[in-house]
Amino acid sequence: MFVAVYPGSFDPITNGHLDVIERGRKLFDKLIVAILRNPQKVPLFSIEEREAMIRETVKNFSNVEVAVFDGLLVKFARERGCRVIVRGLRAISDYEYATQIALVNRKMAPEIETIFLPTSAEYSYLNSTVVKEIARFKGCVRELVPAVVEEKLREKFNDISF
Ligand code: PNS
Repeated sequence: MFVAVYPGSFDPITNGHLDVIERGRKLFDKLIVAILRNPQKVPLFSIEEREAMIRETVKNFSNVEVAVFDGLLVKFARERGCRVIVRGLRAISDYEYATQIALVNRKMAPEIETIFLPTSAEYSYLNSTVVKEIARFKGCVRELVPAVVEEKLREKFNDISF
């Protein structure tokens, strides 16, 4: 069984993440979407909220699992038998940081390979921070996030009028 992990903060999941999941899942027997529980960051959505939104978003993808992890990604990947880490690359500006993390991960776990999937061009500008900023100021995020996330953002920012 060829298993890969797609890690991230997913605060919240966007259509850019979903694009990587949809394309990545075709490359492996199983893709685990792994949400980092990061005590150093104050997220907008709790880990439970983020997990629920991702579960709803990927519910029709039979080979996609959702999990939460703490600590080192490579430790989680080893425990779950993942041979590959999938990372989305939006633009060249993502490359330096993503490569640094990939090299650190390879140093710790040489048997696990990182692959970069270029995000589809239509989502190259998109990230969770941009989505939260638009929603906070009552802009429309309908084309940027799955429907369940749009709904949760509306609740979070108190009846945003889309
Ligand atoms: O969505 P993000 O915040 O860009 O995701 C970053 C993530 C979760 C992939 C990365 O921070 C991570 O793997 N963190 C876990 C700790 C770890 O293993 N760090 C790698 C060595 S620096």
